[in-house]
Amino acid sequence: MHVLVVGGAGYIGSHMVKLLSQRGCEVTVLDNLSGGYRDAVLAGRFVLGDLGDADLLEALFQSERFDGVMHFASHIQVGESVREPAKYYRNNVFKTQHLLDTMVSHQVKPIIFSSTAAIFGEPIRVPIDEEHPKNPINPYGRGKWMVEQMLRDYEVAYGLKAICLRYFNAAGADPAGELGERHEPETHLIPLVLRAAAGRQPRVTVFGADYDTPDGTCIRDYVHVTDLCEAHWLALRHLWADGESAAYNLGNGNGFSVREVIDTARAVTGREFAVEYGERRPGDPARLVADSRRARSELGWEPRHAELATLIGHAWRWEAR
Ligand code: UFG
Repeated sequence: MHVLVVGGAGYIGSHMVKLLSQRGCEVTVLDNLSGGYRDAVLAGRFVLGDLGDADLLEALFQSERFDGVMHFASHIQVGESVREPAKYYRNNVFKTQHLLDTMVSHQVKPIIFSSTAAIFGEPIRVPIDEEHPKNPINPYGRGKWMVEQMLRDYEVAYGLKAICLRYFNAAGADPAGELGERHEPETHLIPLVLRAAAGRQPRVTVFGADYDTPDGTCIRDYVHVTDLCEAHWLALRHLWADGESAAYNLGNGNGFSVREVIDTARAVTGREFAVEYGERRPGDPARLVADSRRARSELGWEPRHAELATLIGHAWRWEAR
């Protein structure tokens, strides 16, 4: 089977390319390297280019017969999406629609779409199941929710088949140490904490310690990147086996506070580092924890690295390189 991985040079996409090739798939990666790295693509054919390049996309779909598409290419910073909504709607929505149109015109039906917990906005109940109301509070979340709805309409009208995977907090790294998280600038908690542990940055700033949580810091559901990739693989196979289109929330169902992440990182790395307490970051909900029972029962998804210490250990091995 031949899979087109859009954004396959990025953090999650690069782990996915490795998994697909291990599972015997032929892989083509399309990536503009705006946030990804050529050397993170460990297998398959690499095509340098932008999703918005109509001629390139058309030529790609004419030259290859794809059995499915995985779409990871998106901008991911919530704060930036508020300051530069045009960038987010153009890339994450408009260019994605262009990909869908090309799929439709070449009759490529299955797509696995990277969605996010940000479509739920401020949760009204936790853990968050798939039916939880969708009230995104920033352009990043709104764009992802728009695409989810577009995918449903494209199925009704054009027969596209889609599985939307709503990641909670993607984290960790390839257990074999070949791949990891490399965002520039880095904004995510675990890599920033590990940079501080490695002495690559002076301290960690905790964004708010006055939340309504047991220790006052925000609680998140950290899910291992290879467990997310396994869910993509199961989702694609589900569509290949004529399964229904669907959306799944992906997390471990365990929430960890910012303080717990810092304490675990100290224990795993054996390093001390400075921590300061700062203001809340606008738009951060106090608690985001997934109810992933649907992915478990319908896809047979079973996260293998649910322990926070394991996840941080894998990320640390990557960071320490
Ligand atoms: N945090 C800090 N200090 C930092 C960085 C983060 O205290 O230097 C805190 C945040 O306030 C938050 C938690 O650590 O409470 C996790 O923050 P991340 O930035 O690592 O992750 P988010 O939960 O903000 O973001 C994730 C995804 C986004 C997605 C969002 C959905 O990375 O792509 O969940 O809400 F949009």
